[in-house]
Amino acid sequence: MSFYVTTAISYVNGVPHLGHAYEAIGTDVLARHRRLRGEDVFFLTGTDEHGEPVADAARAEGVEPQVLADRNAARFQDMVAALEISNDFFIRTTDERHAVRVQQVLQRVHDRGYTYKGLYEGWYCPRCADFKVENEILDGNRCPIHEIELTREQEENWFFRLSAFQEPLERLFAEQPDFVMPQHHYNEARAFIGSGLQDLSLTRARMRWGVVVPWDPRHVFYVWFDALLNYYTALWYAREGEDLTPRYWPANVHVIGKDILKFHTVFWPAMLMAAGIECPRHVFVHGFLLGSDGRKMSKSLGNVLDPFEVLERYGTDALRFYLMRDVVWGADGAVGMDGVRARYEGELANEYGNLASRTINMIERYCEGTVPTVATDPQLRAEFAALPARIDELLERVELSAALEEIWVRVRRLNRYVEERAPWTLARDPERAGELAMVLASLAEGLRAVSVALTAYMPSKTAVLLDALGASAHTEREFGEHGFGGRVSAIPPLFPKTAA
Ligand code: MSP
Repeated sequence: MSFYVTTAISYVNGVPHLGHAYEAIGTDVLARHRRLRGEDVFFLTGTDEHGEPVADAARAEGVEPQVLADRNAARFQDMVAALEISNDFFIRTTDERHAVRVQQVLQRVHDRGYTYKGLYEGWYCPRCADFKVENEILDGNRCPIHEIELTREQEENWFFRLSAFQEPLERLFAEQPDFVMPQHHYNEARAFIGSGLQDLSLTRARMRWGVVVPWDPRHVFYVWFDALLNYYTALWYAREGEDLTPRYWPANVHVIGKDILKFHTVFWPAMLMAAGIECPRHVFVHGFLLGSDGRKMSKSLGNVLDPFEVLERYGTDALRFYLMRDVVWGADGAVGMDGVRARYEGELANEYGNLASRTINMIERYCEGTVPTVATDPQLRAEFAALPARIDELLERVELSAALEEIWVRVRRLNRYVEERAPWTLARDPERAGELAMVLASLAEGLRAVSVALTAYMPSKTAVLLDALGASAHTEREFGEHGFGGRVSAIPPLFPKTAA
C-alpha cells in the first residue's frame, strides 16, 4: 500500500520560522507512522521560489531572484535536517525539471479548452501574489491576510475556466466528505464553491520570474499554478530514471495551513480535473501558531518563540513533542518558552525519562541485566491491546495530538504500575521471584511498546531508549505476551534536567 504525503512549499522571500517547523513536524509524524506500519511512503516538502514576493524581495536587496532563492532554500533545507524531518525529496520550483512538467500539464489544460485570453482587472496583493475577490477584501481595500492596501491592476492574460468546474467540484465534495479535514474547513471550502466560482487569471504578462507559458512565451504562469503542481511534478523526476507518478499518485494527504485553503481545496482539484488527472484524497488543514500572549507572533510584540533557541536548549525531540502536544492539531495555539519548559520537565523528564531509567535500573539490579522471558501481566496487556488500532484510527483523521495523548495515558499507566507493584518490595522476598520477573518483563514490554508508538514523534530519543532496552530489533507495535529478552544497558538521563 502506498502513502503519499506533502507539506505546503515555503516561500523563499523569508527565512524559516516556527510555523514552517510546525507543519513539517506534523507531516513527518504522519510519514513516520505510516512507514512503521509497513506502508510504502513518499514524503515531499520543498520551496516555492517563483512569483512576485520573491522577485520583489530580491529587487529590494539588489540581487537576482535566483540568488535569494538559493540562499533561503538552503535555510529551509537546514531547518528540515535540524528537525529530523524524514522527507524523501525536497522540491525547489526553480528546478528546470519541475518547469518542464508544469508546462506539459498546463499545455494539456490549454489543449482541452479550459483557457482563454481576456482582460483581467482586480484588486491585487503583491505579498500574496493574488488577486482578491470582492467578498474577502477588508475595509479600505486591504488584504485580508497582510492588511496592506491592495492595488488596482489590469492586464491581458490567459484565464483558467474555473467556473466550468462548479458542478464537478460540488460532486467531489459530496462524494468525498473527508476531502477536507477538519470538518469546519470542509464547510468553509464548500461554502466558497457554493457562492459561485469566477474564472481565474492563469498567467502574468508583466512578470518574468516564473515558468514560461509554452503556447504564449511572452507570459509566465501565475505562481500559484506553478506552486500547486509541485505535488505532481516531483514524482516525475525525484528518482533518477524512474517516474514515481503511477506508484504514488493521487496524493493521500496534503498538509497545509488555513490561509491557503482556497488554493488547495478549490483551485487545485479544478486544475487537476481540467488536465484529466485524479484528485488527491485529503487536504488536511492545521491552525496557526500564536505568540505566548495569544496574539499573532511578531518580533515587535516580543512574543516570538525561536525554534533554534528551543533546539539548542532542549533538543529536537523536545521541540517536536512540545508542538504536537501543546497545540491541538487543527486549531490555533499559543506557544512559548514557559510551555516548552513545563512539558519538558513535567512529562519528558519526570514521566517518560524517569520510567525509562527506573525500568532499566531495576532490570539491571534484579534480573542481571536481561529482560525476563516470562509471560507479561494480562491486565496490562489488556490495557495496551487497543493502542495500535486507536492510534491508526486517530492518525487516519490526522489527529496528531489526540494520538499522542493515547500514548501518554499508557506512559502514565506504566508509572502507576511501578508504584502499585513496588518491585523493590518483591525483590526482598525470594518466594515472589516469579512475580518480580513478570512485573519487570511487563514494564520492559510496556516501555518498548510506548517507545515504538512514540518513534514517529521523537525519532532520536526513542531510538536511544529502544537500544538501551535491547529492543532495537523489536519494533512490533503490539504489547507482547512474553518479555522480549533484551539485554539492557544503563544510559544517562534521556531528558537531563539541567538543560533548562
Ligand atoms: N508558498 C505558499 C504555499 C504553496 S503550496 C503549493 C505559502 N508559503 S508560506 O511560506 O507562506 O507558508 C508555508 C506553510 O506554512 C503554509 O501551509 C502556511 O499556512 C504555514 N504557516 C505559515 N505561518 C504559520 C504559522 N504562524 N503557524 C502555522 N503555520 C503557518 O503559503
